[in-house]
This record gives sequence, C-alpha cells and structure tokens, in this order.
Amino acid sequence: MEEIKFTLSRRDFVRSVATVGAGAVLSSSVMGQEAAKEEKPQETPKTTPKPDDLKVAIIGAGSQGNNLVNNALKIEGIRFVAVCDIWAFNLNRQVKILKKFDHEAKPYADYQDMLATEKDLDAVIVASPDWVHAEHSIACMKAGLHVYCEKEMSNDLAKAKEMVLASRETKKLLQIGHQRRSNPRYHHALKMITKDKILGRITHCNGQWNRGTSQSDEIGWAKGADMDEASLKKYGYDTMQRFRNWRWFRQYSGGLIADLGSHQIDIYNWFLMTPPKTVIASGGLDYYKGREWYDNVLTIYEYATEAGPVRAYYQVLNTSSFGNLYETFLGDEGTMQISEDDTIGKIIKEPRAKKREWEDDSAELDKMGRSEISLKVGETLKAGGKKDAVVEQMVANLSKPPHQVHLENFFNAIRNGTPLSCPGEVGYETAVTVLAANDSIAKKGMVEFNPEQFKV
Ligand SMILES: NC(=O)c1ccc[n+]([C@@H]2O[C@H](COP(=O)([O-])OP(=O)(O)OC[C@H]3O[C@@H](n4cnc5c(N)ncnc54)[C@H](O)[C@@H]3O)[C@@H](O)[C@H]2O)c1
Repeated sequence: MEEIKFTLSRRDFVRSVATVGAGAVLSSSVMGQEAAKEEKPQETPKTTPKPDDLKVAIIGAGSQGNNLVNNALKIEGIRFVAVCDIWAFNLNRQVKILKKFDHEAKPYADYQDMLATEKDLDAVIVASPDWVHAEHSIACMKAGLHVYCEKEMSNDLAKAKEMVLASRETKKLLQIGHQRRSNPRYHHALKMITKDKILGRITHCNGQWNRGTSQSDEIGWAKGADMDEASLKKYGYDTMQRFRNWRWFRQYSGGLIADLGSHQIDIYNWFLMTPPKTVIASGGLDYYKGREWYDNVLTIYEYATEAGPVRAYYQVLNTSSFGNLYETFLGDEGTMQISEDDTIGKIIKEPRAKKREWEDDSAELDKMGRSEISLKVGETLKAGGKKDAVVEQMVANLSKPPHQVHLENFFNAIRNGTPLSCPGEVGYETAVTVLAANDSIAKKGMVEFNPEQFKV
C-alpha cells in the first residue's frame, strides 16, 4: 500500500488544491490538548481600549480558562473587563496576567456578583468545571450575554438541553468548546472525504486519546493556596483534593469519555454526517484508586450512513500514551488519519484506488524542494482569477492556535452574524453520544439511540 504523509504542510496545500480546489487548508501549530499547552502571553501585543471593543469576562480561570484568555488576547477588538473564579489563587493570577496586557479586569469570586455589577459586558467565556457549565451559561445568557462555554457542555443531559433552550429563548449565541469544529485542517479533511471521496466508501473509524500516568496522576495545588472550608462547601466541594481533581468524580464530570472522547467522537458524528445508532462500551477503574470515574474506556459505535454501515472504535486510556491522539477514517479506497496534533496524520491509498492527478504535481514539487512555491500556487488558485475570501481566511487561520480560531469564530458571530461552528445543538448531540458510553458500561450491554434523543 502506498502511504502519503498527511501533515498538511504548505506544500500539501498545493497537492490538495489541485484536487479539491478552493477550501483546501493546512495547519501548522501543535494543537492545544486537554490540560492545555498554554500560549505564551508575552507574544501578545498590548492594546489600548477602543469604543467598539467587545467587553468580555471569563468564569473559571483555571488551566483552560487561562489558555482561552491568552488566545483571546491575540484577537483584535477584545477587551477583558472581569474575571470570576471561586479560588483566589487562580483569580489573582488571571487578573495579574491581564494587567500585563493593559486589560484592567475586575476580580469576582461569585458570578452572580459579577453579573449584578458588570452592566457593560457583551460576552462571557465559561471555563469552569463541567457540572456548573449550565448554571453559569444560562445565567449569563439570561443577563443578555453571548456565551462561549467549554466542553463537555454538561455531565447532565437535562442541563445541557436547558442550555440550548436558554440560548433560543434569549436569542444569545452559545458556542461550545469543541475547537476542532473551527480547525481549517479538519475542514480540509472533511472536504477531501466528502467531496473528493478520497477514501471511497468509509466502513470503519478508529480513534484514541492515550494519556500516560504523568498526565493522569493527581493534580495538586500550591502550598498555602488552600481554599477555606466554608468557601469549598459553598461551591459544592468537600475537600481541596476533590476541587482540584473534579474530573475523577461523577458529580462534577462525565469521566474520560466526556472529557477527552467528546472532542473526537464529535468528529465521527461530524464527518459521518449522522449521530450513531448504537454504542457498546467497556471500561473500569483498573489502575488508580480513590476515584469514581473509569481510568480506561473502550467503545464501539455503529452508524448507519448514506453509503452503508460504519463501525467506529474509540479508546481513551490513562495509563499509556502510546500513539497519543488521533481519529482515523478507513474506506475501501483509502484511510485518513487526522489529529489535533498536526505532527500526526496521513493518507494511505488502497491499491485499487485511482491515481489522483495532484500526486504527480506533488512529486514534482518534492523534486524541486521549494516548499515556498506553494504560496505562489495558492495565490494563483482563484476561481476566475479572483481572490477566494474563504480560502484566504482559512490559510490565514493555519498559523493560529486552534482555540484562537474557535474564539474568533465566536466573536465574528457576535459582530457579523456569521454562523457558529459549534452551536449548543451540536454540543448537545455530542454529549448524548458520549455519555451513553457510560450507560453502556453500567448496564454491561449495548445502548440503542432513538434519533429523537439527539434533538432539542
Ligand atoms: N477545549 C479544550 O481543549 C479543553 C482543554 C482543557 C479543559 N477544557 C474544559 O475547560 C473546563 C475547565 O477545565 P480546566 O482544566 O481548566 O480545570 P481547572 O480545574 O484547571 O479550572 C477550573 C477553574 O474553575 C474554577 N471554578 C470552579 N468552580 C467554580 C465556580 N462555581 N465559579 C467560578 N469558578 C469556578 C476553579 O477555581 C478553577 O480555577 C472544563 O470544562 C474542561 O472540560 C477544555
């Protein structure tokens, strides 16, 4: 079998544009993963406030909250005016970071105080633990604010549904943090699969997020930074350990399949263009002790696509980092592996697959060893000699971290009414899909979905 690297470098752009035309895209940054790799705030230019800035607050200034703030700081016309976090340690850290960039954000421990005081806000980023997403997002939308809410939308489907309903009722935007939905690399892959049919008929999917123990062990906290017991209790945590390691507990999280799996199983639903019919899963707390959620989950989803049945395997492990994270689509003409980590990815052709004309072009470019030529070719690739604004924008997005692109999609929707790439309805469908894997493990059997279950 012939293997084609699918790194989607600038040169690969040329390879694929010849085939797919406008809309081909590539990516260049290693993607933020859960327990996000933080962008260096030093790279962000300082800006002075402007009257038409969008005024933004963050609720939950932890690891991901800080990552989103750093990404939002790179976006023109965004001004942070408030930070809310129940933990003084993270609250003060975030306010200080913002101050470095001349964003004077007021600190709040309680989101209700923030909403009662800050009457000039346009939008809120919610990056608190999953179990309070609904409470925070719904209150913000009811206060007239647009919301970017991290995934998992909620560990409770009834609450996730309420979030969608609140968004409709208040007519406020609700973007869910499945950032691959804005990633040009994924849009490009989807185009190659659906329009160019590069894989032929897809029959299987295979994906994983394997994380070793170094990323799965207990999360601690700085000496002397403990929250007092009364505050912990007020916000629903018995101990500092539960507060910091909320992902382990059913009250606060949907477990690994929601925390990590949701990003990738969302891609199955998106690329196969339908939610699944069934799921069967196995999982357990086999390695760690003192937790509630499983430390490994293995699932098989069955889809009925227009082209025929697809069986989709997915695993998430806490004990091995082997192979890292990816999603693979296997078809009768080829297989595509894609990942948010752009060092991972390739297309493998089956022998029966027809040769694509761009394979010769790319071989020529390889021989020339001039990757910069791709830029030139890209520039000439305009239908009727005109610039294609969509392609131009996608190419520009390739140099940005994925969370920044997803935030930009949200802020553009507020400013220009452009569509959200992951509205609440999409987040809800994904939540229904992934949380059913936990039900399957609990009942030790297959769960069948009713198509109505995915709708709000
Ligand atoms: N999209 C992604 O790539 C990605 C990556 C990592 C995390 N996440 C999501 O981001 C969210 C936060 O995850 P994290 O890793 O940053 O967790 P974290 O524990 O580091 O941060 C959570 C923060 O929320 C604060 N908090 C808790 N309860 C609160 C409340 N009631 N009001 C205000 N603040 C509260 C905590 O003090 C903490 O600072 C989760 O929903 C997680 O699933 C998404």
